[in-house]
Amino acid sequence: MNSLANLEGLPRAYFTEADSADVVIGQNVNAKDARLKEVMDVLTRHLHAAIKEIEPTQAEWFEAIQFLTATGHKSDDWRQEFILLSDVLGVSMLVDAINSRRPVGASENTVLGPFHVGNAPEYPMGTNICLDAKGEDMVVRGRVLDVDGNPLSGVKIDVWQANDEGFYDVQQKGIQPDFNLRGVFRTVEDGRYWFKAVRPKHYSIPDDGPVGKLLYDLGRHPYRPAHLHYIISKDGYDEVTTHIFDPDDPYINNDSVFGVKESLIADFVKVDDPTRVAEAGFDGASYWDVEFDFVLAPKA
Ligand code: BEZ
Ligand code: FE
Repeated sequence: MNSLANLEGLPRAYFTEADSADVVIGQNVNAKDARLKEVMDVLTRHLHAAIKEIEPTQAEWFEAIQFLTATGHKSDDWRQEFILLSDVLGVSMLVDAINSRRPVGASENTVLGPFHVGNAPEYPMGTNICLDAKGEDMVVRGRVLDVDGNPLSGVKIDVWQANDEGFYDVQQKGIQPDFNLRGVFRTVEDGRYWFKAVRPKHYSIPDDGPVGKLLYDLGRHPYRPAHLHYIISKDGYDEVTTHIFDPDDPYINNDSVFGVKESLIADFVKVDDPTRVAEAGFDGASYWDVEFDFVLAPKA
């Protein structure tokens, strides 16, 4: 049925280059959702301002439309090219910063990334999460504390990382064992945690789609410095989604998704004292010792 739309209160939508944004925003006066109106008004204003500054040709604007179309076509249940776009534009980190304002001293958040799986096995403290014995041995240990320095027991530590070639298990099904280099631990009475793994390596974010092409066209690289991912949670405390980073990685100062924060850079100390290597239960000549404490803020 071709019924008449509600035109009540609507200003005239006569369009000129000078007042384009106001004319479009004026049509939103009957919005049912005040937040939607606020968001779309702001976006419209900034988009029109950008177009006025850029003055794209029709061909350039069509190229932008094709880029967004390709970004959609590249996305499915496994691959989210729009999140990658948000990551490389720094928007993921900005939204996270706005939503994770915490007291000084509390552990900072960083990007979740696409490689977390929800059902990783829970292990007793000290377990080696490297299931294929490939890579340089590493012990990761530390404590989880509250902002007053009190140890927190029973904190869930969900950890995952890439292997020493820079791939997650889910990227190499049939090559790495399922659940390689991921696991869940719970801190003991004094807030301590410790587990074994292998030293991670830097890697490229998925760069075979339009976002990868955009990076290369901009003269940028797609690499992330070596890191371990964590989700740290306990009832009554703000959940922390974060990483710890290897300070010696070549990309530590140039993460393609802007995830590095000074407070998340850990120390990776090489231990080659045979007594300590044997005490840690490794067969090789050395291992990496990584000590890092996390601090949880109370839920706001
Ligand atoms: C990651 O660290 O797993 C990641 C983060 C953002 C984009 C791609 C990967
Ligand atoms: Fe990662």
